[in-house]
Amino acid sequence: MTELLRIEDLATHFFTNRGIVRAVEGVDLSMAKGEVLGVVGESGCGKTVLALSVMRLLPASTARIVRGTITFDGLSLLELPDEEMRKIRGSRISMIFQEPMTALNPVFRIGDQIMEAVHAHRKVSKKEARDMAVEMLTRVGFPAAEKRINDYPHQLSGGMRQRVMIAMALILEPELMIADEPTTALDVTIQAQIVSLLKDLQSSLGTSILFITHDLGVVCEIAERIAVMYAGEIVEMASTEELFSSPLHPYTLGLMESIPPDDLPSMRDARLRSIPGSVLLLSQEVKGCRFQERCSDKMSKCSHGRPLLCEKKPGHFVRCWKYE
Ligand SMILES: Nc1ncnc2c1ncn2[C@@H]1O[C@H](COP(=O)(O)OP(=O)(O)O)[C@@H](O)[C@H]1O
Ligand SMILES: [Mg+2]
Repeated sequence: MTELLRIEDLATHFFTNRGIVRAVEGVDLSMAKGEVLGVVGESGCGKTVLALSVMRLLPASTARIVRGTITFDGLSLLELPDEEMRKIRGSRISMIFQEPMTALNPVFRIGDQIMEAVHAHRKVSKKEARDMAVEMLTRVGFPAAEKRINDYPHQLSGGMRQRVMIAMALILEPELMIADEPTTALDVTIQAQIVSLLKDLQSSLGTSILFITHDLGVVCEIAERIAVMYAGEIVEMASTEELFSSPLHPYTLGLMESIPPDDLPSMRDARLRSIPGSVLLLSQEVKGCRFQERCSDKMSKCSHGRPLLCEKKPGHFVRCWKYE
């Protein structure tokens, strides 16, 4: 197994008028080449900020990576000059977002936008870039690509726009694609099509995917391994099978209990909202475990020290005092 991405003790904070928001607070994870890793957690737990930290696309005025390292194929991303990072972004690491309409420029034809992504990184002729765009669009299931390459984004359905985004993200065959809730804005049937498309492309191109979602039903269909995130931290990480068959962290258990057990393959709507309490305010300074206020197994220890992410079984990590 070759490691592609390693994130160590990453902390990304926002410095706002109303105080510090600790959006990502000590995240450790690694991904192998060709792996699909799911990151799952409720809205506001820091998933997008984690992704933007890897891409180095955080709002410069308020956000700062205060600690940690991100290593991609041996390169220390946080230390790279901006110019080097720009070369990596789009060509070796790409990202797709929840709402493709915000990422596509409404005034340019989709073909031109895809070709521009090619020209930004490769010295190819216009004809070659266009051929590449048509080929990639066809590959992502875009009908009549040769003709519809001239469409504007508003002429396409949400699902087709997401296919365009995927084509643009994969056209230079990056080693890593970060997919941030790529199916959340789509209806259920289209969601399933996009997930299966990503699966197919992943296996044919060998791209690693960091698949971010708040939806356990979606993530279990594509990810080989899952990291569960809560309030800026990873609280549990294991292979998908292991996580579903023996979840350990009280938060993960809560997530699983919200899903009827015989409904696993079709639990797309198992949104993570049935756990009592609300997500910790990330502006609060916390002593001890960040989940303690919502935890049904809270012990006195939990309000004193922060538990570490420990390997409870081979490959199965959990951050909870119950298991230390
Ligand atoms: N530009 C910003 N300024 C201040 N706080 C932010 C900003 N962007 C995100 N946050 C905060 O960071 C936390 C994590 O946000 P985010 O990563 O978007 O969550 P998720 O993607 O898991 O829903 C949230 O509490 C959010 O309010
Ligand atoms: Mg998000």
